[in-house]
Amino acid sequence: MTDRFVDRRYLTGVQYASDANLSSRQALYRFQDPPVRNPVWTLDLAELRGDERVLDVGCGNGVHLAELAGRAHRGPVFGMDLSPGMLTAAGSRSRASLLVGDAEQLPFAAGSLDRVLAMHMLYHVPDRDRAIAEIRRVLRASGTALFLTNSCRHLEELNDMVAGALTEVGASTEASSGRAYLGFSSESGDAELRRHFASVERHDVRSELVVTDARSIVEYVATMSWIAEAARPVLREVERRSSAVIEAEGAFRIRTDVGCFVCR
Ligand SMILES: C[S@@+](CC[C@H](N)C(=O)[O-])C[C@H]1O[C@@H](n2cnc3c(N)ncnc32)[C@H](O)[C@@H]1O
Repeated sequence: MTDRFVDRRYLTGVQYASDANLSSRQALYRFQDPPVRNPVWTLDLAELRGDERVLDVGCGNGVHLAELAGRAHRGPVFGMDLSPGMLTAAGSRSRASLLVGDAEQLPFAAGSLDRVLAMHMLYHVPDRDRAIAEIRRVLRASGTALFLTNSCRHLEELNDMVAGALTEVGASTEASSGRAYLGFSSESGDAELRRHFASVERHDVRSELVVTDARSIVEYVATMSWIAEAARPVLREVERRSSAVIEAEGAFRIRTDVGCFVCR
């Protein structure tokens, strides 16, 4: 299997051609208990006064840009994404300046930004070291970068169930082991970031999805890139397994575990 997580053509042409897949995944978080709003707690870590120049790299459909707008941020805000389709969605949420671009080559002058956000995106970048170097380059010496990612244990019960479903229908074990964020996770990110930043702090937030509707799990799994070849039989098996757990236990409980690195 080609590594779709870092394949620019797949990312811009299929997975993130529009925000449909990302929106479906975001929708599962309505079952999160207690709820965790990533844009809120991560932007709190950014310690903003309100007048900073901020870039959101891989801004997706703009949830962090919307939070900045909600905080009435006065300084210039830029949202950049590899995928033009994602910027269409981001534009409906914020009045930030939006641009298509690649994290490996940021179209900003050295030392021109106060904050750079790279939220749930670095695991899609083929040359992460180059992207991190770019983020350091465009930041002022006094600037801060935030990198949000997932722990290896994030959605563990869901990923284990999907792996079981893939095995059951005879899909390859290679496909069943794919988890985009394992390339840059809470556990692995620190060493990569320390090559470019003097100070790296990690903040973890854990919670749980208490899912009472098997269809919502199926809709989430249908967006996972490594399911594609075996989609229909796998999704039927996912529905069967989820329904069985919900019937027996009242809910399918899935841990969430995300980490935000604050780098200076
Ligand atoms: C999982 S989404 C996260 C979106 C948003 N940051 C959030 O937290 O909701 C990943 C985003 O990164 C973008 N992306 C992937 N590779 C990129 C790259 N090399 N440069 C810029 N954006 C990229 C994708 O198009 C997608 O919108």
